[in-house]
Amino acid sequence: MGSYVNLLKKAVYNQHLSREEIIRLLSAAGEEEIRMLYAAADEVTRVHLGNEVHLRGIIEFSNHCKRNCLYCGIRRGNKKLTRYRMEPDEIVNTALYAFKLGYPTVVLQSGEDDWYSMEIMCWIVKNIKKTANLAITLSLGEKSSQEYHRLKQAGADRYLMRFETSNQKLYGQLHPGVSYENRMQCLFTLRELGYELGTGFLVGLPGQTIADLAGDILLLQKLDADMAGIGPFIAHPDTPLKGCGSGNLDMVLKVLSIVRLLMPQTNIPATTAVGTVDNIGRQRALKAGANVIMPNVTPQKYRELYQLYPGKICIDERPEHCRICVEGLIMSAGKIRGSGFGSSPKWKERAAVIQP
Ligand code: 5AD
Ligand code: FES
Repeated sequence: MGSYVNLLKKAVYNQHLSREEIIRLLSAAGEEEIRMLYAAADEVTRVHLGNEVHLRGIIEFSNHCKRNCLYCGIRRGNKKLTRYRMEPDEIVNTALYAFKLGYPTVVLQSGEDDWYSMEIMCWIVKNIKKTANLAITLSLGEKSSQEYHRLKQAGADRYLMRFETSNQKLYGQLHPGVSYENRMQCLFTLRELGYELGTGFLVGLPGQTIADLAGDILLLQKLDADMAGIGPFIAHPDTPLKGCGSGNLDMVLKVLSIVRLLMPQTNIPATTAVGTVDNIGRQRALKAGANVIMPNVTPQKYRELYQLYPGKICIDERPEHCRICVEGLIMSAGKIRGSGFGSSPKWKERAAVIQP
């Protein structure tokens, strides 16, 4: 026990631990150790980021995807799925509705869908920016440097793309026909272009070890992510991974807490997947280091078609409902809703230096 407390202190003071030390923290099994870990993460969050929880409204605008990730419900190989695309003006209007509901940020997410050309995507971004003082996060997958550059010029502020796992062999098995190197290159390019960068990984993938999770945490640090999305893998019945066991909530929360200790200024969402494996999962995450929630603002008719994993929460809800629901969720975790765009403090510092 004593050594566990010392390790927690070391994490807080040094913001650096070796792989072995992270493994030791992740191996906490006793209730008391786990409680101390979550409490330390909550305290570090409070000291660095206050009590504020920032909201981002997410619009899932297309479930077409050219990739075939083994775990994902909208992979191109899933022939059972009805596919949809929102029209560009419908996407803009949905973003403006999110603004009206009081969201300071919208996240535009889709499968990797080339139907939306650069012209169309830039038109969408510009038109949202023209009308509303919204931060725009894009989550469109892998693109070329030129494309990322054009989207940034059009007004996009942030980009979200998880590396999913830092284990290159596992990455290769889960993502047929694509390269780990290219994903890394995309992430570094996004950073260089001045995007606020969100990335992250899945916990509980088949074949993933605790040492892999320690590697994932170290990679997040190496990428100096402004936001870290961490969620449990949930097996989808219409994918090759059907029947595999799903990620365990306590392991997700342990990972999340350690990320908070080592990266005190990084935004960490209480992910929808965490809310799916446990109905108070998001509240628990908010008490273990998370400081962001991303409620769904996708029009209700499309929601059931964007199930990256089964049992996803909020499928039957409308955007207004989720808006009210998260307010209660934040309160029940003893937090308050954030004001402003909720950029990570370290991104603000970087932006001040790069764009004086
Ligand atoms: N279980 C949990 N999360 C998933 N994602 C995709 N499929 C699943 C699944 N079966 C996550 C990926 C992706 C994000 C948008 O959703 O990590 O980056
Ligand atoms: Fe959608 Fe609670 S956030 S119902």
